Amino acid sequence: MRLSSLSGVLLLLTCLPSALALKAGDFKTCAQSGFCRRGRALAERANANAGAWTSPYSVDPSTLVIAPHEAQFTAGVKSSLYPDIKFGLDVRVHKDGVVRVRMDEVGGLRKRYDEAASWALIQQPEISSEIRWTAGKKDVRAVYGRKKEFEVVITFEPLRVTLLRNGKEQVVLNGQGLLHMEHFRTKEETPATAQVEGGEEGEQVVIKAENPRAWFEGESEDAYWDETFLSWTDSKPKGPESLSLDINFPNHGHVYGIPQRATHLDLPTTTGENPTFTDPYRLYNADVFEYLASSPMSLYGSIPLMHAHSPDSTVAIFNAIASETWIDVSHPTRSSTNTQWVSESGILDVFILPGPTPSDVFAQYATLTGAAPLPAHWALGYHQCRWNYVSTDDVRSVQKRFDEEDIPVDVFWLDIEYAEEHKYFIWDRKNFPDPVDMMKDVEAVGRKMVVIVDPHLKRSSNYPVYQEASELNVLVKPKNGEGEYEGWCWSGSSSWVDFFNPNSWDWWKGLFKTTVRDDGKFSWLDSTENVHVWNDMNEPSIFNGPEITMPKDSIHYGGWEHRDVHNINGMLFHNLTSQAVSTRSDPPKRPFVLTRSFYAGSQRFGAMWTGDNLGTWDHMAVGIYMVLANGVAGMTFAGSDVGGFFGNPEPEMLVRWYQVGAFNPFFRAHAHLDTKRREPFLLDEPYKSIVRDILRLRYSMLPVWYTAFHEGSLTGVPVLRPHYVMFPQDEAGFSIDDQYFVGSSGLLVKPVVQKGVTETSVYLPEDQVGIALVYYNYFTNYIYTGSAKGKNVTVPSALHQTPLLIRGGSIVSTRERPRRSSPLMKYDPFTLRVALDKSGNAKGDLYLDDGETYDYQQGNYIWREFVAGKNGKKGVKISSKDLGIAGRAGNEFEMSMESVRVEKIVVVGLGGKPTSVKLEAGGKELEWTYEPGVAADGKKEGEGSVLVIKDPGVGVGIDWVVVVS
Ligand code: GLC
Repeated sequence: MRLSSLSGVLLLLTCLPSALALKAGDFKTCAQSGFCRRGRALAERANANAGAWTSPYSVDPSTLVIAPHEAQFTAGVKSSLYPDIKFGLDVRVHKDGVVRVRMDEVGGLRKRYDEAASWALIQQPEISSEIRWTAGKKDVRAVYGRKKEFEVVITFEPLRVTLLRNGKEQVVLNGQGLLHMEHFRTKEETPATAQVEGGEEGEQVVIKAENPRAWFEGESEDAYWDETFLSWTDSKPKGPESLSLDINFPNHGHVYGIPQRATHLDLPTTTGENPTFTDPYRLYNADVFEYLASSPMSLYGSIPLMHAHSPDSTVAIFNAIASETWIDVSHPTRSSTNTQWVSESGILDVFILPGPTPSDVFAQYATLTGAAPLPAHWALGYHQCRWNYVSTDDVRSVQKRFDEEDIPVDVFWLDIEYAEEHKYFIWDRKNFPDPVDMMKDVEAVGRKMVVIVDPHLKRSSNYPVYQEASELNVLVKPKNGEGEYEGWCWSGSSSWVDFFNPNSWDWWKGLFKTTVRDDGKFSWLDSTENVHVWNDMNEPSIFNGPEITMPKDSIHYGGWEHRDVHNINGMLFHNLTSQAVSTRSDPPKRPFVLTRSFYAGSQRFGAMWTGDNLGTWDHMAVGIYMVLANGVAGMTFAGSDVGGFFGNPEPEMLVRWYQVGAFNPFFRAHAHLDTKRREPFLLDEPYKSIVRDILRLRYSMLPVWYTAFHEGSLTGVPVLRPHYVMFPQDEAGFSIDDQYFVGSSGLLVKPVVQKGVTETSVYLPEDQVGIALVYYNYFTNYIYTGSAKGKNVTVPSALHQTPLLIRGGSIVSTRERPRRSSPLMKYDPFTLRVALDKSGNAKGDLYLDDGETYDYQQGNYIWREFVAGKNGKKGVKISSKDLGIAGRAGNEFEMSMESVRVEKIVVVGLGGKPTSVKLEAGGKELEWTYEPGVAADGKKEGEGSVLVIKDPGVGVGIDWVVVVS
């Protein structure tokens, strides 16, 4: 949240009622942003001249050079409007078929920002050694793929880039001719608008007002050299340098991604049909106070990644740009999508991800920007936050109440009030006299603390962190490039570290050390290695800045303006903090750093949350869509504030919100300073018990979450999987975003997000493999039968019930013993739930490791595959086998888990009562019970049959086979 006047933090703390509504007027619309206006006007002119419109940009074939790889070429590009201005094109095909298209102005007056990709990518992508360009008279093309199904064509005149698969166009750049890279010019340069005719002696001089470039650029120089919004004037010393590009997806009727905003996953159009979405989507990291639950407005983070999807293809675009960007989306037909991307500055640097399936696209994006790494196990537990727990004793008593009520929790959080005058790292000793003792009390049962560190540094002579940054000369500079930029945030008059400056990096990392630093600089001695960090306000949020952020003409390292790097700014802060937390311990441990602002690649540094939501049903619902959209764009460790940040949710709403949170990858309750306390132990019955059960459900499922994160860290596929990702051919699922799958566990959840609900309609996706057409109610084992056409079923969902199904064919591992925190579950036994599919088969996997170090990278983990297969007519054979690296003989972790058993195997949907249940090795008969019920043959709905095998006497890390006959 933020304050838009200068009246100071005190005022804010006392008089910011949650009733204050969004001030949409604080943020620009496209019509208020010069370059967006120019971009949209360009599209309008093109539309008005449809048929006659051609792009002025063309490749000069004489300059084409295929080098230094056969899969890379460079060529000169010209604009017929400005024959003297030169552009350079560089197109490469990567090893995995991703096509990277870069274009920049060559030898221009100034340099365009070209470093966005370098912050997002994990490394310089490998160029293919097999694919080769072939140059012809009119184009240059390359054919590739296992079956030579892909072809990429760069047409010379006009310049156009097309990706085809099996001869069908999938992605087209500049197909509508909206490419425009505004070249650098001087202010004095007379625009070539005036055409002088006549002038011979005796002749009248006629100045033709007609502008030969006007058909393309418009009649006027709209906001080229400065621009005023409300009371702020952006000095724009470099003049116009915007970039427009149309990216079309013929044959793809749905687009997803480009977080962050509060809207549906399947992105609505912005060019007309939808009355609330008449502005383009905006990517401009912004702290929007009380944001609307449905809006194209930009929120705290920006990921310029868009998926386009159809039943037979998924492709994506990663447009590596860091400046403010607007994106129009339209559907010329139901099955195609056109987009126009307009950015304020930066080079053209577009990656075309050819798919053709959602998992291919996730892998391709992970190859570029990295997959979210495996988080610490405890980070998947429940996080209790509030602005603010006001003292060390407050924290202790909150922890005590959780324990008294047997409610599990892993992490206690401290918001900004722990810090004296909001000088982060410095404890307010009056209320927090014994921070390290408090931390040790919290750590006693394996819990952790997360403490906030914001990026604004109070400009105070008694704040060593600010003083050191100032001495090191690593603070962002104001527009003249001299001194320190100053703005207002929680700490009053503040400055901001410029994390683009490498000189800030080691110094920042050192601040988090819990020991004295060699260089004598500040370190966080009043802290422990179990304290992790929350990075907030890193858009950056600046209360008295334009659009509540930093003026665009402020200066960063290397002389770049803030406008060039705005959307990356928050990621660098998060990156450095995450490195700091990880390297604070020796050997390093997996850090947990929560961020509010993010960019492409931020998934490597930690979790995010959806910011300051409201305690309303609408916000509860949109939080789910937002978490799904973030996952699509790589940022899979995501969640929204349980309970809503603003407001006082009634108990029913709070309970439902816990159900939403329990199925978010990141599960944290948080609340604004002005709200009433609402920790779960404060609830009356039956609400308190319901919330306790929800939390226990989450804890029992930690093996599922951890395994899903592990899988995602290898594949880039998000932990929460929307329907189009799971069933890419099932059109009925393409717009569904209120239900989703958890990893590849087979769990399908549809949290209730309305008041007074007792039953919920859940869509069972169309079966694509012909066998798995049954789903089970997780709690009752009721069997629902699906249909080859897709089908809705009604699932009971009274307040204590979350609509949660298991897809037939899955084996889900849980740990059912209630504990106070997740580390206490380390040696707890496992339960396997085998949900048979129609043919009596099922599969699942389980990944485990020490949960906090990097030892797993040396093979110290347990990774099992469980397989159930039909055995005779009614029986089933269930086995456990190693999925680890072949030849990886017993590792230390596995050995430390020797005593950890599978204590129960539950098989649902068997066709009849077994006659015997044995361990294959040794043939020992096991103890079991059988409840008759409906079989999983897909013929009938009803309570499924349940076989419970008690204590099969097998370890979780070893091979075994159980035979049910
Ligand atoms: C911002 C955050 C919120 C936090 C508050 C005080 O509004 O989004 O979560 O509680 O600042 O730090």
